[in-house]
Amino acid sequence: MAMPLLLFLIFSLKLIPISILCQSISNITIGASLSAGTNNNNNSSWMSSPNGDFAFGFIKLEQDTNLFLLSIWYAKIPDKTIVWYANTDTPASNGSILELTSNGLVLTASNGEQIWKTEGLNARVSRAMLNDSGNFVLMDDNFANVWETFHNPRDTLLPTQVMQKGGKLSSRLKENDFKKGKFEFFLQDDGNLVMYSVNLPSGYVNDNYYTSGTVNSSASSAGTKLVFDMYGDMYILRENNEKHNLSEEGRVSTTQYYLRASLNFDGVFTLYQHPKNSNSSDGWSTVWSIPDNICTYGVLNQGSGVCGYNSICTLKNDKRPSCECPKWYSLIDPNDPYGSCKPDFVQGCSEDELSNNKKDLYDFEVLIDTDWPYSDYVLQKPFTEENCKQSCMEDCMCSVAIFRLGDSCWKKKMPLSNGRVDSGLNGSKAFMKVRKDSSFLLPPPTIVIKKRKTLILVGSVLFGSSAFLNLVLIGLIWLSTCYVFVYKKKLRRVNQRDYAVKTNLRCFAYEELKEATNGFDKELGRGGFGVVYEGVINIGSTTRVAVKKLNNFLLQEVEKEFKNELNVIGLTHHKNLVRVIGFCEAESERLLVFEYMSNGTLASLLFNGEKPSWKLRLQIAFGIARGLLYLHEECSTQIIHCDIKPQNILLDDYHNARISDFGLSKLLNMNQSKTNTVIRGTKGYVAPEWFKNMPITSKVDVYSFGVLLLEIISCRRNVELETENEEKEILTDWAYDCYKDGNLDALVENDKEALEDKKNFVKLVIIGIWCVQEDPSLRPSIKKVTQMLEGVVEVQVPPCPSPISIQYSLD
Ligand SMILES: *[C@@H]1O[C@H](CO)[C@@H](O)[C@H](O)[C@H]1NC(C)=O
Ligand SMILES: *[C@@H]1O[C@H](CO)[C@@H](O)[C@H](O)[C@H]1NC(C)=O
Ligand SMILES: *[C@@H]1O[C@H](CO)[C@@H](O)[C@H](O)[C@H]1NC(C)=O
Ligand SMILES: *[C@@H]1O[C@H](CO)[C@@H](O)[C@H](O)[C@H]1NC(C)=O
Ligand SMILES: *[C@@H]1O[C@H](CO)[C@@H](O)[C@H](O)[C@H]1NC(C)=O
Ligand SMILES: *[C@@H]1O[C@H](CO)[C@@H](O)[C@H](O)[C@H]1NC(C)=O
Ligand SMILES: *[C@@H]1O[C@H](CO)[C@@H](O)[C@H](O)[C@H]1NC(C)=O
Ligand SMILES: *[C@@H]1O[C@H](CO)[C@@H](O)[C@H](O)[C@H]1NC(C)=O
Ligand SMILES: *[C@@H]1O[C@H](CO)[C@@H](O)[C@H](O)[C@H]1NC(C)=O
Repeated sequence: MAMPLLLFLIFSLKLIPISILCQSISNITIGASLSAGTNNNNNSSWMSSPNGDFAFGFIKLEQDTNLFLLSIWYAKIPDKTIVWYANTDTPASNGSILELTSNGLVLTASNGEQIWKTEGLNARVSRAMLNDSGNFVLMDDNFANVWETFHNPRDTLLPTQVMQKGGKLSSRLKENDFKKGKFEFFLQDDGNLVMYSVNLPSGYVNDNYYTSGTVNSSASSAGTKLVFDMYGDMYILRENNEKHNLSEEGRVSTTQYYLRASLNFDGVFTLYQHPKNSNSSDGWSTVWSIPDNICTYGVLNQGSGVCGYNSICTLKNDKRPSCECPKWYSLIDPNDPYGSCKPDFVQGCSEDELSNNKKDLYDFEVLIDTDWPYSDYVLQKPFTEENCKQSCMEDCMCSVAIFRLGDSCWKKKMPLSNGRVDSGLNGSKAFMKVRKDSSFLLPPPTIVIKKRKTLILVGSVLFGSSAFLNLVLIGLIWLSTCYVFVYKKKLRRVNQRDYAVKTNLRCFAYEELKEATNGFDKELGRGGFGVVYEGVINIGSTTRVAVKKLNNFLLQEVEKEFKNELNVIGLTHHKNLVRVIGFCEAESERLLVFEYMSNGTLASLLFNGEKPSWKLRLQIAFGIARGLLYLHEECSTQIIHCDIKPQNILLDDYHNARISDFGLSKLLNMNQSKTNTVIRGTKGYVAPEWFKNMPITSKVDVYSFGVLLLEIISCRRNVELETENEEKEILTDWAYDCYKDGNLDALVENDKEALEDKKNFVKLVIIGIWCVQEDPSLRPSIKKVTQMLEGVVEVQVPPCPSPISIQYSLD
């Protein structure tokens, strides 16, 4: 999932406002025009409201720097919240002209094509203004309104705006994609306010998921209009002049707050507030929203529901939905977290299924209080839980069976729609059928860069461009590579599912960890992944732990990977690896709980003050090699660490080397890849193939190990720029020079113990030189390295690590 994550970051549509229209023009006449994208021309400015709260003009879409949206936004707050927009389907290119004519506004592209114009005018226009409420009005000679944005709303209503019968809001497609989305908010002719989804692109209307009930009946008077008044109250005015409030929430001051009511792209209608006079790091917050729970409210029994098909909707604290694929399912479009999910395995009544014992093929994933209420094809009652499972297992059409009410079993078929978590289901169980056997897994999605060729292609397209692109590319290669690892792992993991799911990791509550760390009081260290705190926890016995609070868990893809990855990490057990005890998933926080390592990092041991004994250093080097051997070759699925460095090697009570952060480089690769490329633009621990268009293999860890080994021998950092002697700056180069010149003693200065153990010392340097070969194929495997260290295999004369001197500068 790493790849889409990056794509998301690169292509996410941010909006940047152009040519803020700060002149206090509040009144323009026909003939005036505004050109999109011509910044330094004061004539290109159009207008702002007299009080300066709102601006009208072109906003630039950042995803395509040459495209503009004609819109109205809040002029005084930094995040340019758009309240109205015109040309949703055809963004305006640079140089497009907006003109006020007697027939209204006309937006024309630079090639002469008409993009948008105001429709339905009943009189000739002579002027236009933006009023203090954010209403853009076209007026005739007599200052009578001919057309106004308040009568042509998009997805937002503002105080003083009134919606008549037949009025409609339509959601955006995504937060920053202004094309028409799938939800509508509509005041029907019978006075009922309703919300429903439509099927795109036809616009076919599905059933309502919200109705205000303001229709004419013996008990109620029909609605006439929806009023959002100047005090911020929003109500439907009935024929008998009673007010039907949309929410029971109290008032918010309209003098202190900006208010807007928007139909969000996910179908929730929300009243937002924003302090007027603030530098507003706090931004918009929710006052109220309808419906109460869009995941379960009313019926949404046509189409996929709020989320895509086979997805599961849960309600977040802000009453907005979040969508997640079930385990062993993944997003069809990784860039659309609200889209449909597909199983990662072949489903249905295929040949093999008919001929094999079903129990050999399938397993159940059990979900509590989860339901897809409209996808059933059969109800069995009375039925026991066992009957229910058995019946679904035997039935090739069954995707999931819901057991509820103690005796009822609903069998459901694909595609599953309207999935939701609903605590009102009182502990109902969903038995989701998933395939056991990896040979039936579907091929990976096309976005995965699977073959070396593709990787090289991507590389050669981007390399040679700017430094920035190179940075992005390195990130991309890193991510895609790691994604491939993850995918391969997934393949194998399915085989091991039975036990992998039940790793012995403990799931901690956030409060528990907060208490254990005394409110995240004592910091042990920090790195690319997050901050580590010391803590004490009771897991059978009182145990000291290190709690790592991970950064960067904002993106859903990462979140999903979190557990998958933990399953892998949780299965690793080796005396040279730091053991993960448990984890915590809370809101936006992700934490990992590790064994506490009393003797700090290898970095502090090696580089701060006195050299540790030669014997201890040997023992540490051997330990790291064994830990890596386990990760590369002995644990159930290969784990490439990608970030071996002395800061990631910890020392336990007995000064055993323990590798930490394995698996995390994939888990949190985004952040990591950035830091690495920046920090290690000069030679560091990162293998040269990261900077070239070459595939990434476990040999990258061998390279880093080689650097580490040379550091352990010499007790100095690989890169020391302040040395008087330039040739000593890069340890890996200097070590080879010393070796070539027969001057190895210089490497350890006056380290008597090392010099006395000359044979081992020379061997270690040679192994280090083998490991840091520029060409990955020349580097030994970690297995070979351990054999050489142990003396099982003879050590040969190494070639020069970098036959052609290569500059790693990123320019
Ligand atoms: C617009 O400008 C005209 C002439 O400058 C002025 O008479 C009129 O009051 C203005 N209208 C508004 C609403 O500001
Ligand atoms: C739009 O085009 C003009 C001239 O062609 C150019 O000077 C200006 O920088 C462009 N604006 C943007 C935002 O690309
Ligand atoms: C246009 O902008 C220039 C400098 O930005 C300023 O000197 C000039 O007065 C402006 N003209 C008008 C009509 O605002
Ligand atoms: C730009 O503004 C100046 C000053 O208001 C005016 O003289 C000039 O005609 C304007 N140019 C265009 C192209 O509208
Ligand atoms: C702006 O226009 C709307 C609609 O005509 C009106 O209700 C509102 O009072 C106006 N606001 C101001 C501040 O003039
Ligand atoms: C409202 O409904 C009542 C009966 O419930 C009916 O008599 C009346 O005519 C209706 N009013 C309108 C405006 O339709
Ligand atoms: C509607 O809201 C207003 C303002 O918050 C309040 O004064 C009024 O009592 C509410 N009406 C009902 C029927 O709750
Ligand atoms: C906004 O920030 C500026 C400078 O950072 C500060 O002087 C000012 O007081 C702040 N205003 C508010 C309302 O916080
Ligand atoms: C769940 O239990 C509560 C209380 O026992 C009951 O009122 C409610 O109807 C139950 N919900 C369902 C969906 O069975």
